[in-house]
Amino acid sequence: MAKIAVLPGDGIGAEIVPQALKVIKAVEKKFGRHFEFEKALIGGAAYDQKGHPLPEETLALCKKSDAVLLGAVGGPQWEKLPVELRPELGALLPLRKELGLYANLRPVRVFPQLADASTLKNEVVSNLDIMVVRELTGGLYFGEKKKEAIDEGFRVVDTLVYTTPEIKRVAKLAFELAQKRRGKVTSVDKANVLESSRHWREVVAGLAPEYPQVELEHMYVDNCAMQLVRAPKQFDVMVTENMFGDILTDLAAQLTGSIGMLPSASVGGRVALYEPIHGSAPDLAGKNLANPLATILSAAMMLRITFNMEEEARAVEEAVAKVLAKGYRTGDIMQPGMKQVGTEEMGDLVINEL
Ligand code: IPM
Ligand code: MG
Repeated sequence: MAKIAVLPGDGIGAEIVPQALKVIKAVEKKFGRHFEFEKALIGGAAYDQKGHPLPEETLALCKKSDAVLLGAVGGPQWEKLPVELRPELGALLPLRKELGLYANLRPVRVFPQLADASTLKNEVVSNLDIMVVRELTGGLYFGEKKKEAIDEGFRVVDTLVYTTPEIKRVAKLAFELAQKRRGKVTSVDKANVLESSRHWREVVAGLAPEYPQVELEHMYVDNCAMQLVRAPKQFDVMVTENMFGDILTDLAAQLTGSIGMLPSASVGGRVALYEPIHGSAPDLAGKNLANPLATILSAAMMLRITFNMEEEARAVEEAVAKVLAKGYRTGDIMQPGMKQVGTEEMGDLVINEL
């Protein structure tokens, strides 16, 4: 039976994940599917109850499941812990690494109903559809880190490391995705400064002949940030280093109206991980204010990618579009004349449309 590990995590994670579960359960009913769900602790919640942000049983559960649905981790109360016990560095990054999830797919899609919710002009963002492929288990996040005392204070080190195979596998995925889309890959780097970027560029360019239908362009990351705001529709598939991807996707999220709208799928291993790109939003937590749509859309990606249920995935995405078309909004995407609803109501509305 299809098994889903459910890791709500911290902050708003505990509120948005149940909404996505409701939606998957509605899919079970409507399409006669059946999933097995098992919950586990991760992040600060796991640290508080088990003494570690990624308990062994949580990792074991993920490894024996078919897919993982994750909310978010982190919060101010855990920021002072030793780094290896913090939700981000002690749980989320090791989980991605342990599951071999080297590619994080972040579709940046603007629902036509939300084109006016963006801070950019409607004509700049309407019908936008970009797929960002963020390398997820290498680069600056995973290189050697050091902090050593010197006379005047400290000497601190972060390193950006890539091997040829690490670049190749994620670039391949980007080319393959582009083949099924509009046939363009933008590889984003800082090759005018970084050695790792020069090699990244070389490796990606070396693969291009295998994909003659795909147009490849290289772009510096600073220019890319500008282009994303200036003329985002020039992009189809983007592929980039771990931290560049982290930063660019928060920027790109704002094109869609809110970071609360952006889902993601982390793939590459046997088990894939689905999570919204936003964080745990401690300021919103426990208030029934958070937007659950990024998590619900992550669940749709799970149906499509892990379970091959294209029709079901599309039904969820269409249900979300219909709810937006009827004028329902959470606070983050609220606009004059629309109807503001809370986290749970938004989940219920999506189910009703399904
Ligand atoms: C994300 C988040 C994480 C990341 C944090 C919470 C470690 O910002 O998924 O984008 O940087 O990968
Ligand atoms: Mg981020």
